[in-house]
Amino acid sequence: MNLKKTGAALAVIASLVTSGAIAKAEEYKVGLLLPFSGVYAGLGSHIENGFNLGLEHFGSELGSDTITVDKADTEADPASSLAKAKKMVLQDKDDVLVGLVSSAVLAAVRDFVHQSKTPLIVANAGNDEATGADCSPSIIRVSFSNSQINRPMGPWLAAQGKKKVYLMAPDYAAGHQMMEAFREGFVANGGEIVGETYPPLQGTTDYGPYLAAAKAANPDAIYVFFAGSAAITFVKQYKDFGIGEEIPLYGSGFLTSAAYVHVQGEAADNTTVALHYVPSIDTAENKAFQEAYQAKYEGKLASEFAVAGYDSARLVIEAIKAAGGDKAKFKEELAKVSFNGPRGPLRIDPATHNVVQNVYIYKNEWKDGKVVQTILETVPDVQDAPNGCSM
Ligand code: PHB
Repeated sequence: MNLKKTGAALAVIASLVTSGAIAKAEEYKVGLLLPFSGVYAGLGSHIENGFNLGLEHFGSELGSDTITVDKADTEADPASSLAKAKKMVLQDKDDVLVGLVSSAVLAAVRDFVHQSKTPLIVANAGNDEATGADCSPSIIRVSFSNSQINRPMGPWLAAQGKKKVYLMAPDYAAGHQMMEAFREGFVANGGEIVGETYPPLQGTTDYGPYLAAAKAANPDAIYVFFAGSAAITFVKQYKDFGIGEEIPLYGSGFLTSAAYVHVQGEAADNTTVALHYVPSIDTAENKAFQEAYQAKYEGKLASEFAVAGYDSARLVIEAIKAAGGDKAKFKEELAKVSFNGPRGPLRIDPATHNVVQNVYIYKNEWKDGKVVQTILETVPDVQDAPNGCSM
């Protein structure tokens, strides 16, 4: 070996790297902040599964850069989640945080990521303010906003001839924001809200008293948001009470997510909901995604949570590619990513950093021993107004 020549070659490479002509290999550290316990536990594991599948699918595009992942359990607890986010950034030196399921947790970490300029890819939490009045150049949301999902349902339900609706959702930011977005469009189209109730997010096991109050208000329909274990319990009790035969159930589609609609089973029959993803979307991208997900995870259907994890991984990888080894550029590139994924076309709104995407209104029907989810209408390219956001 000619040491002199090797040394000279290394010196040339080093100078190319310093001059930026060749990018040096970077390690990107991702901190996954997700609920692995509590009311939203199942959602966290779907997001993580989707994220890992995304790393597998798009990881080969990374070139010499690498990604390492660590994770922490947020439960649905704002205070401990903020402490965990701080540890990931300040102690573990993570470059980017991914995750967050609860709107209240997102509100709790907002100031920290904004002030520390840590990029945060929101993979679920819909808190309107995070891409509205409290928006931040550091926050990019790939999932949805609470109002984005529910806004199309107000005019739609009014057009179905429903005049009087009762609202129900957990008593925290997401519950209230989702109901407000529905109310606005419903009332503007001639509908009337005849009552509403907000049970506690944590620990409600008996919806009986709430359902009795809803029935007593004599509405044409009930419109709700519930997710995770609360959605399973609520839908089953709705069926057990026999209310569905008189008063049909509508809501945001987390109610009957593919993550747990098989557990709800027949109780989910004849419910109609809106969401940014349904496993039955009939596109080549979605079919390939569902096939790969089911092959990797014991035949389980991929849910909207899994898609958010998958798309988050794609976002990180595309931004790393575009950054060419420059970590400061990586942050800027995150908000510029757009692609056609399992849910359809997806882009990040430069004015708010919220995702722009289709919303699907779909119906659940119990057929031949399983729940079939049929898309009734696609509302294309749903985009939030800036709502007080200035970057
Ligand atoms: C939220 O808190 O923003 C949230 C939680 C669970 C969902 C949707 C939204 O399924």
